[in-house]
Amino acid sequence: KRVAILISGSGSNMVALAESMTGDHPARPVLVLSNDPGAKGLDRARAMGIPVAAVDHRPFGKDRAAFEAALMDRLAEARPDILCLAGFMRVLTPGFTEAWAGRMLNIHPSLLPNYRGLHTHARALEAGDAEAGCTVHEVTAELDGGPILGQARVPVLPDDTADTLAARVLVQEHMLYPAVLRRFAAGDRTPVLLP
Ligand code: GRF
Repeated sequence: KRVAILISGSGSNMVALAESMTGDHPARPVLVLSNDPGAKGLDRARAMGIPVAAVDHRPFGKDRAAFEAALMDRLAEARPDILCLAGFMRVLTPGFTEAWAGRMLNIHPSLLPNYRGLHTHARALEAGDAEAGCTVHEVTAELDGGPILGQARVPVLPDDTADTLAARVLVQEHMLYPAVLRRFAAGDRTPVLLP
């Protein structure tokens, strides 16, 4: 299976995914694509020998459809079977999510369906939750709403800040996403639940 990974920033999840696709793994990374030409993850992908590209969303202004058409054109060149959103910070329209229905995954830093959207760790702390975590799900038109393919839980500690909690969750993200992708690429949608 050919996997394209979409990023907006550091790309730590992209690195974890790319590093996992070796040996008898049914998938290989064929492109790392960012909406930000300056994304650090592009440099990391280049260093790993993975083809990279950027489609800057800013020239398109509010025209999401035009931006997504440019994404589709660049993706068509790489012929991916699966898209992995990994720290990709642009909302995608139903036109795009429908085109990739059943073939596009995302990782979100909360235990969905709790805390869709942004600032998930601060919201969990504010609510006094004892647990937090991350979720890998299939991407649908509903933001952070598709079928859950995996979750990893971590304890919230008394002196946690959003940053310390985020760091603890990120370690789990780097284990969860590769585990989910390996199953998904083999056609297995059994959820991965960690620990
Ligand atoms: C991570 O917290 C991930 O859950 C969210 O974006 C953050 C940064 O991810 N989607 P990365 O380091 O760019 O992979």
